[in-house]
Amino acid sequence: MYKFRSLARWFVLSLTFSLLVLTGACSQDSSQNASLDETAEPQTTEQSDPLAAYDSSRIGHYGYGSPASEAQIAGWDIDIRPDGKGLPDGSGSVEDGEYLYEDKCAQCHGTFGEGEGRFPVLAGGQGSLEEARPTKTVGSYWPYTSTLYDYIYRAMPFTQPESLSPDETYALTAYVLYLNDLVGDDFVLNRETLADVQMPNAGNFVPDPRPDVANERCMENCRDPKAIVILSEAAPAVDETSDRASGSGEAGNSQANMEVTATPANHPGQETYQQYCSICHGSGVAGAPKVGDASSWTPRIEQGLETLVTNAISGISSNAGTMPPKGGFAQLSDEEVTKAVKYMAEASQ
Ligand code: HEC
Ligand code: HEC
Repeated sequence: MYKFRSLARWFVLSLTFSLLVLTGACSQDSSQNASLDETAEPQTTEQSDPLAAYDSSRIGHYGYGSPASEAQIAGWDIDIRPDGKGLPDGSGSVEDGEYLYEDKCAQCHGTFGEGEGRFPVLAGGQGSLEEARPTKTVGSYWPYTSTLYDYIYRAMPFTQPESLSPDETYALTAYVLYLNDLVGDDFVLNRETLADVQMPNAGNFVPDPRPDVANERCMENCRDPKAIVILSEAAPAVDETSDRASGSGEAGNSQANMEVTATPANHPGQETYQQYCSICHGSGVAGAPKVGDASSWTPRIEQGLETLVTNAISGISSNAGTMPPKGGFAQLSDEEVTKAVKYMAEASQ
């Protein structure tokens, strides 16, 4: 950290001198002493403005950089869209692709696309996506042919990315499609034929259904963030709106209330329950008896409240699952746990 800071300071100070002086200061520094001589006289006055070397009409907003040229933009703008937009002129056959593949790809991806060692498998795996260990390949998984062209052109061979010509890339793409039985051995790939090749898994890609990804971005007159209210929470909470009064539940009624939990309002144990116990007992995860479910609570309640409390404080484990001591919240007092147990039992009769 210290080294970095002093280096940065050195750099900033150096900028006030000309480039020539900068080189001078450098050698002076290392050969004579370590401290920076801020009073050093510039050895030449001609180049005192470090920006003078630049074409000022090309200097951007912050005083450095220059607009990208057409050629520079073209170098970056190589993406191919699913509809084929961006594909260059040219073409390549499966036959040509076979030679190129043997030469440039097989040593890593295998002669038949089976993958050498741990290098990616490029072919096969169709129908395996629902298995425990799916084989995801171009043929079994990828939705668009255009991605294959784009990927190979952009990134392969692994050690020489962007070294392939458009014709070579067309031929290699055609050959990888052939290895996946998606085209015949006389197939020739070009801008037009690429759209004809349908990938088998394309239909299984669906738009992300989560509501937050569909929001339109707002750039002006946006809603006040403070006015946005979060309406749902991760931990399922028991229904607090029930009007069933504390202790008035009868065994006969409780069956009907199994799903929609009726809870005694303002019970002294409710808050503790909600905050600490409902994580498991609210929905019945990991074998925890669900609060409000009389059929799983009745046999437990029959053990007597004392046993329930003891087990809740010390923890209990059975085939059903494991209840950690105090639900894992050691900071709770015995009294708080006792109240929560009473609340849970009453809400589950
Ligand atoms: C030196 C080894 C090597 C060579 C040679 C090589 N690749 Fe690859 N290839 C890789 C590696 C490693 C990856 C995975 C890269 C990653 O995930 O970032 C890969 C990924 C791929 C993928 C994507 C696979 C997937 O399902 O994600 C394709 C397609 C591909 N290569 C095609 C080719 C083609 C065509 C050639 C020949 C022009 C080639 N590769 C040459 C190592 C190689
Ligand atoms: C990590 C999940 C988890 C949390 C958190 C949790 N419990 Fe449990 N609880 C369980 C499981 C699982 C069981 C069933 C254990 C068994 O029967 O072996 C259980 C059982 C119980 C029982 C019944 C004991 C018996 O003898 O039948 C009570 C009472 C209880 N928990 C109270 C609480 C209280 C009070 C809290 C909050 C302080 C709490 N639990 C938090 C998982 C949890």
